[in-house]
Amino acid sequence: MLEPVEAIEGLNVKEAINEIESLTEKHNQWRKKECINLIASENVTSPAVDKIYVSDLGHRYAEGKPFGRHYQGLQFVDQIEDLTQKLAKQLFCAKHVDLRPLSGTTANLSALGALTNYGDTIISSSIPNGGHVSHTRHGVSGLIGIKDFSFPFNIDEMNIDVDATKKKIEEKQPKVLLFGASLFLFPHPIKEIADFAKPYGTHIIYDAAHVLGLIAGNQFQDPLREGADIITTSTHKTFPGPQSGMIFGNSDDFEKIETVVFPQVICNHHLHKLPAMAVALEEMTTHGEKYAKQIITNAKTLAQSMHELGFNVVAENKGFTESHQVVVDVSQFGGGKPVAELLESMNVILNKNFIPGDTVNSDTMRNPRGIRIGTQEMTRMGMNEEEMKMIAELMKKALIDKKDIKGEVIDFKKEFLEVKYC
Ligand SMILES: Cc1ncc(COP(=O)(O)O)c(C=O)c1O
Repeated sequence: MLEPVEAIEGLNVKEAINEIESLTEKHNQWRKKECINLIASENVTSPAVDKIYVSDLGHRYAEGKPFGRHYQGLQFVDQIEDLTQKLAKQLFCAKHVDLRPLSGTTANLSALGALTNYGDTIISSSIPNGGHVSHTRHGVSGLIGIKDFSFPFNIDEMNIDVDATKKKIEEKQPKVLLFGASLFLFPHPIKEIADFAKPYGTHIIYDAAHVLGLIAGNQFQDPLREGADIITTSTHKTFPGPQSGMIFGNSDDFEKIETVVFPQVICNHHLHKLPAMAVALEEMTTHGEKYAKQIITNAKTLAQSMHELGFNVVAENKGFTESHQVVVDVSQFGGGKPVAELLESMNVILNKNFIPGDTVNSDTMRNPRGIRIGTQEMTRMGMNEEEMKMIAELMKKALIDKKDIKGEVIDFKKEFLEVKYC
């Protein structure tokens, strides 16, 4: 017999639901209509993606691969998943695609789980140098018992140090090199390293979570043609799909990864995302090049404008950025935490971040010296170079001139409420 649940004081179920409905509406109004959204890992889906996202597919189960399932009732689902895979294969020029991972992290878990054994070694980017937690002992690597070593990093180049990495490969003989990052300004040197690493039996995985939309638009790098065997990714950052994950590549090991995705990492793969992903793939097939170009132009313009207005924008010697991201050292304003919080109070949403080379301790984790800005969402809402200059001006007013910009931000955003490139 279950014990009766103790009543939580003050909780009325009906009132709670009303409150949740109201909070959801407030959130939608605030973040969609009144904020300048600059979190580098987010994006918005188009009305066509939204429309097809909620369907009966979201009630069903489909363990396994199309046309080889463990459940009945999937005659149309099989065709939808098969066609969506074909759209992804065509867009990314890949022989194999697995749309089942539910997120970038489960994609990494599946690929690393398939290609390594307990006790193996991998090399990936450290967290302060831009790596994602899932690449490290604090995330997936720790969970499956593989040892992670960091790519040596050249701060002047703001990139992986090729020669030092080759030495490390000789020394560690890693099972996997895991390229890609969360703070990701410049394409990683896969070409320069992959051929050197492969004789050691090293698999090359590239985590494209942040830059998938730029790759789809052919504007960043082409990892599969540069030597990567496998791409793991989220599908909702620069790529404007539903929140999910994906794995693709041309490797003969792909089937091994598929057999880890199911049944070892997930069973049902939330089928309603599939038609939504198909629509996002079509949008990026049609508009991806133009969209990705504008994202990068906007990032470069924002970086240059902030630099001219007195901000300490990282990587000036390299032209600041070749991606959707701009990284700014905000030590002079008290660090990333107070800056991100102050801007949030005025409806500019971005996040605090380490800057490559930083040491990690409890103080720097709480308040790193940087902020990371992404231009992909505001580009999708139709903003171009002029608007980037205005955002830089707004940042100056808020942080250097110490003015309240909230009203100006709300007015400014009113003109950018419609999703473009779809
Ligand atoms: C490089 C990288 N990989 C993986 C992830 C994890 O993605 P998800 O949130 O889809 O699990 C992130 C998240 O931001 C990321 O930056």
